[in-house]
Amino acid sequence: MSARSSIGISTMKKPCCKILSSYRNSLLFGFFPPRKMNHSMIDYLSKSQSKSVQCCIVDQKPHVIGYSKCLADPNRQAFFVADSNWVQFHSRGFISKFRVDKGATRGVLVIPNVASDNRNHSTFVEAHVNEKSFESIYMHGGLNVKPLVIERIVAGHDAVKQEVESKVDVNESSLNVDSLKGLTNESSVDRELSEIEKEAWKLLRGAIVNYCGNPVGTVSANDPADNQPLNYDQIFIRDFVPSGLAFLLNGEDDIVKNFLLHTLQLQSWEKTVDCHSPGQGLMPASFKVRTVPLDGSNGAYEEVLDPDFGESAIGRVAPVDSAGLWWIILLRAYGKITGNYALQERVDVQTGIRLILNLCLKDGFDMFPSLLVTDGSCMIDRRMGIHGHPLEIQALFYAALRSAREMLTVNDGTKNLVAAVNSRLSALSFHIREYYWVDMKKINEIYRYKTEEYSTDATNKFNIYPDQIPSWLVDWIPDEGGYLIGNLQPAHMDFRFFTLGNLWAIVSSLGTKKQNEGILNLIDIKWDDLVSYMPLKICYPALESEEWRIITGSDPKNTPWSYHNGGSWPTLLWQFTLASIKMGKPELAQKAVALAEKRISVDQWPEYYDTQSGRFIGKQSRLFQTWTIAGYLASKMLLQNPEKASLLIWEEDYELLETCVCALGKNGQKRCSRFAAKYQLLSLEK
Ligand code: GLC
Repeated sequence: MSARSSIGISTMKKPCCKILSSYRNSLLFGFFPPRKMNHSMIDYLSKSQSKSVQCCIVDQKPHVIGYSKCLADPNRQAFFVADSNWVQFHSRGFISKFRVDKGATRGVLVIPNVASDNRNHSTFVEAHVNEKSFESIYMHGGLNVKPLVIERIVAGHDAVKQEVESKVDVNESSLNVDSLKGLTNESSVDRELSEIEKEAWKLLRGAIVNYCGNPVGTVSANDPADNQPLNYDQIFIRDFVPSGLAFLLNGEDDIVKNFLLHTLQLQSWEKTVDCHSPGQGLMPASFKVRTVPLDGSNGAYEEVLDPDFGESAIGRVAPVDSAGLWWIILLRAYGKITGNYALQERVDVQTGIRLILNLCLKDGFDMFPSLLVTDGSCMIDRRMGIHGHPLEIQALFYAALRSAREMLTVNDGTKNLVAAVNSRLSALSFHIREYYWVDMKKINEIYRYKTEEYSTDATNKFNIYPDQIPSWLVDWIPDEGGYLIGNLQPAHMDFRFFTLGNLWAIVSSLGTKKQNEGILNLIDIKWDDLVSYMPLKICYPALESEEWRIITGSDPKNTPWSYHNGGSWPTLLWQFTLASIKMGKPELAQKAVALAEKRISVDQWPEYYDTQSGRFIGKQSRLFQTWTIAGYLASKMLLQNPEKASLLIWEEDYELLETCVCALGKNGQKRCSRFAAKYQLLSLEK
């Protein structure tokens, strides 16, 4: 069956707005033709060149006036039925029915006759009823009447809530009232804003991209003087995270919700790079809202979401961090900060999480629990010698797995996946804690390593040649503290300090408590190297001379102490703030924010800074870079509301330490030690 879907009826005279997809056969967002759909509608669907999976329709203002989406997963088949007055959604025995006459949309949940848990009920209601703009459909005349005229949705939360005829706990069952205190509206934050913060908010709002009249994200940079924006005019998934956080902390959750749901749709895009289709579940690095004229429509237009999965990106880099990890992390943050967990419980969202996990947990040739990726597959999206198992990806992977573990609905269909997540979490943290950690003591051990050890219980498991210890490290490593190295491969340790990975090791508790303290300690001790004039260095030190030539491929953007090669990125500030607050040292973040404040506004919010001390605005740095602005705002708000920061971090999970960690005994036999991780913790904490 073709999963193509459309209610993008192009008979409208007014501008029409669609999310287009080249997706046809994916399980996710297809559209099962309504059983009661008339023939002309089915004809329309099968003949239409349009590939929309969802259509929102706007009038000329433009106002969003309607959305519809149907889900097509074998486990949660949903379909859509319309007659002259009602629109029904069918899903696993539930029928959600909406009155479609002029006036308020009404939602009636009928026939909750299938044994299922309350979460599914509430999910369903959330998905199709309690939305102002998403997936509510309001039309009069039904689908088989032309022209289709769609009016503005008036369906308010309350109006719908009153009409839900079921015992279902609609959606606020897990509302964390405390977490909403002081965050409920803009004005609560507006009151005490400094001039810089006011400017930042103005710029952040100016970076908002609307799709069909609703905010769905922020452009990555918004410099009016830039006449070559490349893809900086797109919504980058990773760049949106601090924007999303700033909005959430300011009580503005709609944009985040829209972003999460729209990017979820793009997950099911049919993606091809030179005739190769990357795995299902992948999310794009970025997307753009394009305005496309409707054929023969006399000036009418439609808005189209156009994703980039790396097929247009410079270097064709695989956006592994964006392709799901950041999305899951933001989804968790949404629940934690708003206290509204209904979004996570939605069936489509649950499926999205599962697809991402399936992709990440797929078996391959790899021998390690860490995720194997190509170069440039994260924030550093250029060749920088970070292929293999870079720390940044591992830390985000760990945080995403921990988020998913909290959010996955456990049932017969997911219990194996949950078990796989648990065992990967245990193995991953064991691996990183054991093999990525370096401090004075460990470096001294490596310095004295024997090599060429062929055995299952070798000390130097990865056959690291001590000569690899770089000369800068010998003097640089402090007596106190330490850090997680950038990458680990057979016979290769990348000793560079990568900031994002280390910060996320703290935030997610990938590192032990002692290691996390050690990392923050090192940042403090090495402040002049890692912060200096502008927080924070993306990595330390820079690659120079031959090394730069060989590793970056003579990249002129990544010259020493510039851009990804030791440049300073103010967006790292919010992550540093989270880590500092978590470790009980907010004063470090305060110091960094104060430093940034001295310059970022005057310098017009650059993307990055150059030179060893971060004194110059980056030579090719964009100005009015959104994640610089949002990162600053998020930091300020987190420092003002440290209790909010505590919602966004993870403490050590002792249950995970109980999970079996398989180790090889001296005799080469595999033994399963439930306590290996605990012993490791004890020995590392010594
Ligand atoms: C650069 C950065 C990348 C960011 C993008 C958009 O390519 O390396 O991390 O997402 O710009 O700001």
